[in-house]
Amino acid sequence: PTTRYYTFELRKEKLSPDGFERTVWTVNGQYPGPLIIANKGDSLVIKVINNLGEPATIHWHGIFQRKTNWYDGVPGQTQCPIPTGCEFTYTYALDQSGTYWYHSHFLAQYVDGIIGPLVVYDPEDPYYSTCDDQYVVTVGDWYHDPTSVLLPLRMAPGYMGLNPVPDSILISGAGQYNCSSPAAGSNCNSKVTPATYDVVQGKKYRFRIINTSAYAFFFFSIDSHKLKVIEVDGIPVKDTDVSIVNVLPIHCAQRYSVIVKCDQPIANYFIRAVIPDRCVPRPNNTINYNSSLTNATGILHYDSATSEPVSTPYSYDLPPCEDLVADAIRPYDGSKPPAHVTDEFLFNVTIAPNANNVSTFRINNSSFEPTFNNPSNLRILETGGFSDFEVSQNAYGYDYPEGCVQIILLNSLRTEHPFHLHGHAFWLIASGPGIDPKNLSTFNLENPIIRDTTTVPGRGHIVIRYIADNPGVWAFHCHIEWHVELGMVAQLIERPSDFSKETVPEEVKALCVSYNNSVHKKR
Ligand code: C2O
Ligand code: CU
Repeated sequence: PTTRYYTFELRKEKLSPDGFERTVWTVNGQYPGPLIIANKGDSLVIKVINNLGEPATIHWHGIFQRKTNWYDGVPGQTQCPIPTGCEFTYTYALDQSGTYWYHSHFLAQYVDGIIGPLVVYDPEDPYYSTCDDQYVVTVGDWYHDPTSVLLPLRMAPGYMGLNPVPDSILISGAGQYNCSSPAAGSNCNSKVTPATYDVVQGKKYRFRIINTSAYAFFFFSIDSHKLKVIEVDGIPVKDTDVSIVNVLPIHCAQRYSVIVKCDQPIANYFIRAVIPDRCVPRPNNTINYNSSLTNATGILHYDSATSEPVSTPYSYDLPPCEDLVADAIRPYDGSKPPAHVTDEFLFNVTIAPNANNVSTFRINNSSFEPTFNNPSNLRILETGGFSDFEVSQNAYGYDYPEGCVQIILLNSLRTEHPFHLHGHAFWLIASGPGIDPKNLSTFNLENPIIRDTTTVPGRGHIVIRYIADNPGVWAFHCHIEWHVELGMVAQLIERPSDFSKETVPEEVKALCVSYNNSVHKKR
């Protein structure tokens, strides 16, 4: 095991990821940010220098942060925001392997560009040497307006409409916006080369696919090539015939690894990220999208191929906006959820106007609002426990060492929501239609999928279980960024008695002092 050092300078740059130039919030001037690579057992030391002109934090999506809850990057829950002009170093050990990503967790900042991939190798990964080579592919929606414009519209009093409409889909940071469309204006001038992946006929490749969207669900596919799913959110899964798909559904923040056999004639093939019709937001019920929005392409390039790709898309016959049928995929190691539950929570997800007539999302009738200057975990470390204050902040505590937590989430909204749990991966033991807690779908305690982000069906439910082996404060939220800002967030206070014995690093406390000073100065 080694310690790997990275420096992230957060700064704004003018970039044209899809041909349309805008200010992009970047890591080291790059969008997506640099790939972090490490081996299982390594430690990462990542110095974040914030030159954005606004506060920031970085979350390491899917990384458990055992004993380092204060480096999880959630403002209001695990740390104070890093003020502009300041730096903060995230230091944590990797006891997992697989495909992850990082993103800002401060307001909707990741939608403006602070995202990047994080891959952890493990020689004991069952698929470590089954492929000749591998690639990381990010797919994400992209907006020409900054979130400082989009968010106030989405959160306007009385607004009952849909989410902002993306302008493009990007594959590994490259998109093809139609510059001749009237909306393009004079900021649109470059034709962007699609993301291209070089392969050799006869070889096998692992593609690690990460959905970095604010909102969009995708069908991901490669013309004429099947995808064999071998990893789901960092967890290796069994390689069987049922795990081979033509089209891979992937929602916000989810990751999959697939094996692609390059056994087709030498040619160029389209790689596609498609937003199915029903998942495209349509303000005022008008259809408001163009081809670069609904069908983004990259290229799978066989070594000596020179001709243009011939379009041979698979048909998209899966239900839109739903996860891959969990029956097809089983955890590789066959690990089963505990049969006995020590703590159970029932979460009702609803929508209701707040005092300012903003339609906010609720979990058990309460909408999360972060207290940036006073994160929950530091309050618990100071006060030595879990007290009532958290109730107003959608906090739920449990204190049973190594207990099994069960969460039943009932989504009474019409649309689906990709829910993510920090600090853990969970067994998804049930998922289906209906919001009557007495009438849930049958629990699978034999071989359920394990992951960290799962799509809760509209007017439907999920049931998850995980082991309380990670004391700290862990966010549980929908990963549609607009829904986060509208409060669809809970915080799980895991084993406060044990957590309060941990020692918080001085620089974590010092960060809150600088943040509070920076806020005072502004007044
Ligand atoms: Cu990917 Cu709470 O985040
Ligand atoms: Cu949501």
